[in-house]
Amino acid sequence: MSYKRIVLGLALIFVLAVALTGCAAPAATTAPAGEAPAATEAPAAGDDKLEVFSWWTSGGEAAALDSLFATFKGLSASTEIINATVAGGGGSAARGVLQTRLAGGDPPDTWQVHPGFELLGQYVDPGYVDPITDLYASENWNDVMPQGLVDLMTKDGEIYSVLAGVHRGNGFWYNKKLLDSNGVTVGETMSVDEFFAAAETLKAAGVTPLCVGDNGIWATAQLFENTLLGVIGPEKYAGLWDGSTSFADAGVKEAMEIYGQMLDYQNSDHSALSWDQAVKKLMEGGCAFNSMGDWAYGEFVNAQQKDNEDFGWVSHPGSAGGFMIVADGFVLAKNAPHPEQTKNWLRAIGSKAGQEAFNPLKGSIPARTDADRAKFGPYHNWSMDSFAADALVPSVVHGSAAPADFQQALNDAVTSFVVDKNVDAFSNALVTAAKASGFGQ
Ligand code: GAL
Repeated sequence: MSYKRIVLGLALIFVLAVALTGCAAPAATTAPAGEAPAATEAPAAGDDKLEVFSWWTSGGEAAALDSLFATFKGLSASTEIINATVAGGGGSAARGVLQTRLAGGDPPDTWQVHPGFELLGQYVDPGYVDPITDLYASENWNDVMPQGLVDLMTKDGEIYSVLAGVHRGNGFWYNKKLLDSNGVTVGETMSVDEFFAAAETLKAAGVTPLCVGDNGIWATAQLFENTLLGVIGPEKYAGLWDGSTSFADAGVKEAMEIYGQMLDYQNSDHSALSWDQAVKKLMEGGCAFNSMGDWAYGEFVNAQQKDNEDFGWVSHPGSAGGFMIVADGFVLAKNAPHPEQTKNWLRAIGSKAGQEAFNPLKGSIPARTDADRAKFGPYHNWSMDSFAADALVPSVVHGSAAPADFQQALNDAVTSFVVDKNVDAFSNALVTAAKASGFGQ
């Protein structure tokens, strides 16, 4: 994989924030409004199944995945869907299982993937996927998918994935009733100092301030990633991935200190909980705030919680003005057992109707720029505004910003840091890992 090409893509994404206004707002389209595309070919003999591989197993994730299946069934009613899921948020367990299958020549038809390094480095470069550039033309996706995101899924002029939605990674969720009853108010934004002040008030009242569910280490790595964005800002954060910001930077070390201080306010059972169990604990009043991508929104919706009544949100402390991109795409496997049905699946995902059904349940915003905002509630409209106006930066914890070996090194360094809180060791580990991955100074 060309590292330069991805950096270029990431730079483009960053610039998008300046260049695009109303990116997620309704726009003209050549696709029929609100309609799922018609299936173009009847299933060939033996092509009446579809195996979809993902890590969408939490309540909210599974409900959203079901909506994609329903859209697909509209194109291919008789096709049997094999729902191949591997539990473990962030794909922490799924990606290893998938690699084993791919290496063994036993690919599922299609699987979940993040744009950027994860897609290009782990699946395109080794030749595990076929391009779907022709679908972009036939489905008119070239007119409605943000170019900066498509660039992160393109190699040598061929496009390899279509996005179901775009998550905002730097969400900070809270139990509104719990905060109200403790006299804590949250404004449009929250600074790091405001968080610590709220945390002290809550702690004094016997409430656990911060909910974390890091039985998968990625969840606390994400707390760090969001804190990093909040402390050093989007420009310096984006610079980490092209080497213009060093992991030894004073701002990076300050973010590490603050992350360590935040951990002092987390629930004592954090390492026993998954990310969604931590959200559940928040809903039940067992803790107040949770730093998580907006797949957390899917859990609130699935539990019939109401925006701004039961739960609220703000950007992770200090990170307002930045949008941490965690986009979910699907691919067409090379030698897919059921290629025609896989193409129908990808058509369903990329359709306006599919995106308008899936994203309200998942918490992400549609990747398509022509989605009808009226079909989305307060949170989604807020996130669409953020996507249109804010600096778009890639998540490393969710595979887009850096190669897999760096992602692993980050998880390892976080695992050590939560125990020893040694900022210099944390910083040195990341400096070394960035050099080893070819982008650090
Ligand atoms: C992310 C993925 C989201 C959500 C989350 C938690 O990597 O992009 O869709 O599934 O993990 O599992």
